[in-house]
Amino acid sequence: MNASTSTPAPAAIVVDGLRKSYGSNEVLTGIGLEVAAGEVVCLIGPSGSGKSTLLRCVNLLEEPSGGVVTVGGVDVTDPDVDLDGLRRRIGMVFQHFNLFPHLSVLENCTIAQRKVLKRPQAEAVEVARRNLDLVGLADKADALPAQLSGGQQQRVAIARALSMDPQLMLFDEPTSALDPETVGDVLAVMRSLAEAGMTMLVVTHEMGFAREVADRVVFMDAGVVVEQGPAAQVIGSPRNERTKLFLQRVLDPTHVRGDAAEGSEG
Ligand SMILES: Nc1ncnc2c1ncn2[C@@H]1O[C@H](COP(=O)(O)OP(=O)(O)O)[C@@H](O)[C@H]1O
Ligand SMILES: [Mg+2]
Repeated sequence: MNASTSTPAPAAIVVDGLRKSYGSNEVLTGIGLEVAAGEVVCLIGPSGSGKSTLLRCVNLLEEPSGGVVTVGGVDVTDPDVDLDGLRRRIGMVFQHFNLFPHLSVLENCTIAQRKVLKRPQAEAVEVARRNLDLVGLADKADALPAQLSGGQQQRVAIARALSMDPQLMLFDEPTSALDPETVGDVLAVMRSLAEAGMTMLVVTHEMGFAREVADRVVFMDAGVVVEQGPAAQVIGSPRNERTKLFLQRVLDPTHVRGDAAEGSEG
């Protein structure tokens, strides 16, 4: 986390030359990316640039077409990889939280602990309550998901992921589907996770969050990493024209691109 630390932390995620095609459509065309243990990296870029596909290749929800992905030193593309073991180490939070509607908040946070980790019920409940407390929802343990706001449901999804004791967390636009007034609480939970030292790779359009919380920001466009660096540099003074244009649009959605800007992109 601290750039001045002399011994580099071990890499939690290493992506090298990653390619992914759907039929003849190559959506990742040679991605290189590293996330160190304890580091928070925000991945930004236009819709369709391959951000979700990249995350999905890290936990093998998609099979890479080429290149190497290692998680905690384990090559995920090795045919003999322990897939369940790998996925257990990686917590994933999606835009749509997919809680079980018929189970209580507490049960949503215990079911995978019991079925996948084979934890005894009492221990699973204890872990779930601790994580619900962490996301500020201790008092909602007995509620059904439909009784909660979208932001509260997303915080339950985070507590559910944390209850599996992941070594790292992947977030794919966790606040994009939320009512604006519930976004802040979700970002606050993510910030506290980051401060507690969790390794996080976060796809987000929340530039304020990225700027404040990320150790590094990676800008992707059209299946490649175009620019990466400290958050303040990439967001505050981007070097690449594509990064500048993207940030202009995200930071000021009312910005109308004039004809003059049209030819300036390299
Ligand atoms: N399962 C799939 N089958 C075919 N094409 C896909 C699939 N998933 C994603 N794509 C395509 O890959 C490209 C990148 O998508 P995605 O990774 O979702 O981008 P982002 O998350 O940056 O918006 C898009 O053109 C999308 O249509
Ligand atoms: Mg996406």
